[in-house]
Amino acid sequence: MKISTIAAVAANGVIGMDNDLVWSLPLDMKFFMNTTKGHVVVTGRKNYESIPERYRPLRGRTNIVVTRNLNYVAEGAHVVHSLKDALDLARQQGETECFVIGGGQIYRQALEAGWVDVQYITHVDASPDGDAFYPLEGWKGWTEELLTSHKADEKHDHAFRIVQHLKPKP
Ligand SMILES: NC(=O)c1ccc[n+]([C@@H]2O[C@H](COP(=O)([O-])OP(=O)(O)OC[C@H]3O[C@@H](n4cnc5c(N)ncnc54)[C@H](OP(=O)(O)O)[C@@H]3O)[C@@H](O)[C@H]2O)c1
Repeated sequence: MKISTIAAVAANGVIGMDNDLVWSLPLDMKFFMNTTKGHVVVTGRKNYESIPERYRPLRGRTNIVVTRNLNYVAEGAHVVHSLKDALDLARQQGETECFVIGGGQIYRQALEAGWVDVQYITHVDASPDGDAFYPLEGWKGWTEELLTSHKADEKHDHAFRIVQHLKPKP
């Protein structure tokens, strides 16, 4: 099973603030929805709760929430207590590409464990204040393929480039 992260990341590594996003980029959201559709998505409990209630669990995807809280319940989603358990559950379901969808703690743990094969990164042309971060060193030495780019406009707060970073072969 391939393990992929998918994230929109500012030049300073910021991905969020006060458990919310810090920009509006509808075409990036569309990319996220299209790319993860039909797959298992693994989310930290905080990121899960940042999704507006009417949109969670994310439809058309198997949602797995990671929390240390043994009593946590998320209707319509699986709840597990480690990232490894989340990935094992995705494998048991026969998943071929499992998406780690954040937030900062979960991205970092997946990358530091060396479990990630692909990083779909929307590089956002901004350096906002924030309190959640993607590890900027995450794609150092990885090959990259530009998928699309977009200028800032009336619907998009910032310009961005969506890049697929691929783990170098050993
Ligand atoms: N820009 C983007 O693409 C993007 C994507 C996703 C999220 N975000 C942003 O990221 C922010 C949220 O990220 P975050 O770093 O604060 O939180 P997070 O990674 O979403 O969730 C952290 C929580 O996950 C659980 N957890 C973490 N490690 C665990 C482990 N090893 N075992 C069991 N449970 C574990 C804990 O839940 P409990 O406290 O319940 O134990 C922890 O409090 C928000 O601002 C969100 O908007 C941005």
